Amino acid sequence: MNIAILGAGSVGGALGKRLMAAGHQVCFGVPNPQGDKTQAMLRELGANASAATVTEAAATAKVILLATPWTAVPEALQRAGDLNGKIIVDCTNPLQMGANGLELTMGHTTSGAEQVAALAPGAHIVKAFNQTGFSNMEEPAYNGQRSVMFVCGDDAQARATVCELSEAVGFETIDAGGLKIARLIEPLAMLWIHLAFTTPLKRDFAFALLRR
Ligand SMILES: NC(=O)c1ccc[n+]([C@@H]2O[C@H](COP(=O)([O-])OP(=O)(O)OC[C@H]3O[C@@H](n4cnc5c(N)ncnc54)[C@H](OP(=O)(O)O)[C@@H]3O)[C@@H](O)[C@H]2O)c1
Repeated sequence: MNIAILGAGSVGGALGKRLMAAGHQVCFGVPNPQGDKTQAMLRELGANASAATVTEAAATAKVILLATPWTAVPEALQRAGDLNGKIIVDCTNPLQMGANGLELTMGHTTSGAEQVAALAPGAHIVKAFNQTGFSNMEEPAYNGQRSVMFVCGDDAQARATVCELSEAVGFETIDAGGLKIARLIEPLAMLWIHLAFTTPLKRDFAFALLRR
């Protein structure tokens, strides 16, 4: 599948690597495709990775992963052009630095994913890959057990496609329902961040699912 990843930082790079390993074509859409950082990452990823402007990367992709800072989301979506019918996977978290550290800028009655949907009418928005650290996206398994990824979105087909991509990355994937479930999944990201930054767990842990 042709996948565009808007943002080639920690999250974009980790997901790009895993998706390419699963056989997908990945094009990173970034403000400066020729920049040193992006070019160094491309050399590491190998010949099947490419970089282009956001507009170029989004143009041919069926699935677009949004992996920019939250504040860059409106610009990235605007540059992405016609998003009608495309699947946008929202990997971002609407974070800001508050008096007590990082905090979500919204919740309970809306979510970042729903704001993305408002900015891209006609696209199928799916929330995923936001709720764990990028190093868990590079390697989702711990001692043979896969960590969990919750996925939500209003379009069942788009959600199924993203669930398949999440499985390909290596997560045990749970279809959690409609897009408003992002109101629950974004605070889960905040819990992971809180634990990673304030406890001895650091970044070397992930959430997993047990079943009876
Ligand atoms: N880090 C994590 O563990 C983690 C985990 C889950 C979710 N998230 C979320 O994922 C998102 C990305 O996080 P990250 O840690 O990967 O950030 P990052 O390492 O800072 O990378 C951000 C990327 O976005 C690019 N970018 C900035 N403005 C852009 C624009 N207008 N259009 C296209 N690309 C643009 C940056 O390019 P330049 O370098 O050229 O500015 C960079 O490649 C954030 O919303 C974050 O909350 C992060």
